[in-house]
Amino acid sequence: MNNKPQALVIGASGGIGEAFINELLNGGQYSQVHAVSRSVPKQPIESVKYHIINEQNEQNIQACCQELAQTQIAFSTVICCIGTLHDKNQTGRAIQPEKRLEDINAAQLQHYFHVNTILPALWLKALEPIVKGQHLAKVVFLSARVGSISDNQLGGWYGYRASKAALNMLLKTAQIELQRRAKNVCLVSYHPGTVDTALSKPFQNNVRPEKLFTAQFTAQQLLSQLDDLHAQNGPYYLDWQGKTIPW
Ligand SMILES: NC(=O)c1ccc[n+]([C@@H]2O[C@H](COP(=O)([O-])OP(=O)(O)OC[C@H]3O[C@@H](n4cnc5c(N)ncnc54)[C@H](OP(=O)(O)O)[C@@H]3O)[C@@H](O)[C@H]2O)c1
Repeated sequence: MNNKPQALVIGASGGIGEAFINELLNGGQYSQVHAVSRSVPKQPIESVKYHIINEQNEQNIQACCQELAQTQIAFSTVICCIGTLHDKNQTGRAIQPEKRLEDINAAQLQHYFHVNTILPALWLKALEPIVKGQHLAKVVFLSARVGSISDNQLGGWYGYRASKAALNMLLKTAQIELQRRAKNVCLVSYHPGTVDTALSKPFQNNVRPEKLFTAQFTAQQLLSQLDDLHAQNGPYYLDWQGKTIPW
């Protein structure tokens, strides 16, 4: 087993994913940073090892993790940045967050749950062999504060909220199981704040400038919090300040 810590970023071409890669490299703590994405980034970084999965499905996710497991790498940090708020689904239909009950439709809900819940769940399952071991491993999933059931004061965004709440429940449930069979693994559900990326672009009008963060800032914030996290206290549901969010 190669004992030098390595890091893996999943969903690496997105605004926050890219920033994590840069910050993980800048910190100099990792011997290698790996990146999973559906496409090669426009400006690939030479020192990053890219794993391109054109279509994310159970088979391809398992194959990627099995390949990594064969290298016997000790991953100490994994950050999954997969998520969607507005998009087009596979039939080309526009996905927009619902404002009222009448906006709910099955295809849109399926898309939100597929990207925000099911794909992260498949990674959660497939990652175990590459994080389980003697070393402490932090596995972070980008969630959102709106996935908090008890914090929901505003309503709206049914599919996005519900799919992130479901992601949170998966993490809660998985941590209980991992505490029995992979005690070194610490799960984290992370709210990055409102970050200036393609995902938030159409919704930035009502955000005060000081509350609209750069992706670099939110990445730095999370990485500065990681050292204080312990597997036996997981799963954590944290915001960009390191404050606990009620589930
Ligand atoms: N930006 C914000 O204000 C904000 C606030 C709260 C939470 N978040 C969460 O933070 C995470 C990152 O968001 P971002 O702002 O960086 O958004 P982004 O730039 O749109 O990136 C989204 C990421 O999700 C992946 N993705 C999207 N659709 C996918 C699909 N159908 N199959 C597989 N992967 C897919 C992409 O990975 P590829 O590399 O494969 O393209 C991309 O890395 C998301 O989970 C989001 O919900 C963001």
